[in-house]
Amino acid sequence: TWTAANIAESLIADVKAQVGDDGLAICGLSGGVDSAVAAALVQRAIGDRLTCVFVDHGLLRAGEREQVQTDFVAATGARLVTVDAEEKFLSELDGVSDPETKRKIIGREFIRSFEDAVSEVLGDKAESGKKVDFLVQGTLYPDVVESGGGSGTANIKSHHNVGGLPEDLEFKLVEPLRLLFKDEVRAVGRELGLPEEIVARQPFPGPGLAIRIVGAVTADRLELLRKADLIAREELSAAGLDGQIWQCPVVLLADVRSVGVQGDGRTYGHPIVLRPVSSEDAMTADWTRVPYEVLEIISTRITNEVPDVNRVVLDVTSKPPGTIEWE
Ligand code: XMP
Repeated sequence: TWTAANIAESLIADVKAQVGDDGLAICGLSGGVDSAVAAALVQRAIGDRLTCVFVDHGLLRAGEREQVQTDFVAATGARLVTVDAEEKFLSELDGVSDPETKRKIIGREFIRSFEDAVSEVLGDKAESGKKVDFLVQGTLYPDVVESGGGSGTANIKSHHNVGGLPEDLEFKLVEPLRLLFKDEVRAVGRELGLPEEIVARQPFPGPGLAIRIVGAVTADRLELLRKADLIAREELSAAGLDGQIWQCPVVLLADVRSVGVQGDGRTYGHPIVLRPVSSEDAMTADWTRVPYEVLEIISTRITNEVPDVNRVVLDVTSKPPGTIEWE
């Protein structure tokens, strides 16, 4: 019979068999559910021979770094290397507004950060010819089906955080979740003692808040967006809507200004877009009918609490024709 406990147990045994008695593995953590559960399973199987790598690119939401550094580590005891890459990412992204260019820059910098982390993991061992042989990925069954069923080769989704790793890294992939669906992954994660904030988390794109700023990415704009995003998340959760909403991107229209009146005078600020969607698998989505009272609270709080934002608008477009993210 299928229980989270015996699934977890058999997956752990499989990982032990694949990695062997002295193999080293590395896993990029995005803060998302899949990579966290995959890492937790592999950690149970091989302990400290797994190193988790978390790249803080400065494009994260409020609290995400702490979730990985504190909550994930506390729950699993996993070895974690955090790469502080905020300055590098922001300087590479300086002045870039085009969405695809942003994505390419982020993908490239991600790989560089990851490579740095691999050398750090090996340290002195590199001199004795030791290598990190295995790369752990949180690939799920739907991803396997989408990419044609292959595994063991480098069929890493370009969407994925560690997408397009250079071939000379030559990792063998460990994909313990490749036969599971999302709800099963969450069940296994709970079984392994991961906190609800990680296990029940809504999807968040690898390129992070950079693709939720329409216009160039700056530290100030990220700060505004982070505040608005946190308010929307707090209020949607408080209203009990998490189960109904697949995800709710919050988007800063940094290249748009509109006239407002706040306090004693005229303002000329930016709009924030709320994009709550309901979906089964993100391939299609419907805009979520969030109650007006909840929208009102979010709108009032954002315009009061977030500097330079004087308008909140609601995206009422399904996918298709709109994608979930704006970029
Ligand atoms: P779209 O915008 O294409 O998004 O409707 C579909 C789902 O994918 C997420 N998304 C990404 N996830 N890296 C990721 O890991 C990415 O580059 C990326 N782009 C979009 C998006 O949040 C939604 O859940």
